[in-house]
Amino acid sequence: MAHVLTVSGSPSASSRTAALLRHVGDRVAERGHRVTPLAVRDLPPGPLLSADVSDPAIREAVAAVERADAVVVGTPVYKASFSGALKTLLDLLPQSALTGKTVLPLATGGSPAHVLAIDYGLRPVLSSLGTDSILRGWFVLDRHLTREADGSVTLAAEAAQGIDDAVDRLALSLGAHPGVPAPRPAVAA
Ligand SMILES: Cc1cc2nc3c(=O)[nH]c(=O)nc-3n(C[C@H](O)[C@H](O)[C@H](O)COP(=O)(O)O)c2cc1C
Repeated sequence: MAHVLTVSGSPSASSRTAALLRHVGDRVAERGHRVTPLAVRDLPPGPLLSADVSDPAIREAVAAVERADAVVVGTPVYKASFSGALKTLLDLLPQSALTGKTVLPLATGGSPAHVLAIDYGLRPVLSSLGTDSILRGWFVLDRHLTREADGSVTLAAEAAQGIDDAVDRLALSLGAHPGVPAPRPAVAA
């Protein structure tokens, strides 16, 4: 069992990105991994903006990243890039915070014109935090995500396959994690 942290970079209280991350987290947990959610919007804004790592909530957020074997980073596309809220968290992490960790980047956005925001905006920043393993991410159009009353999310068919494939990529990479036993070979009769 690997430990997977999901990080939502949306400042929105009714965030589609956070709903997508819950969906992905549930799928990853079904594969037997431990999933912990972290939402930047729940962190105290003053300490977040001043990078006050002595604040208990900020310290715990940094520790949660340190404990994780893999991190799913989800962001809304704002002004053609990833959210400023996510950047405030990434900025206060130690330079090697993602070393040895697998990272799956996800984004939600309103326009297919910004589908490359993950690759042009987010990927270089994640890479600068030390990870050699950034999986191919996925961008979901906001109109393909419907939040249900119970907090779950329904994905339109156009988005569902891409997200399933992204979860498969993460699960495959976690299969190689030392905490996950390798599948037993079939025994010949
Ligand atoms: C301030 C703001 C700026 C946005 N800028 C873009 C943009 O440049 N490109 C885009 O595709 N969508 C843009 N959007 C749409 C959001 O990315 C999209 O609705 C997203 O799913 C919102 O996610 P959230 O509910 O988690 O915040 C913007 C939305 C807001 C509120």
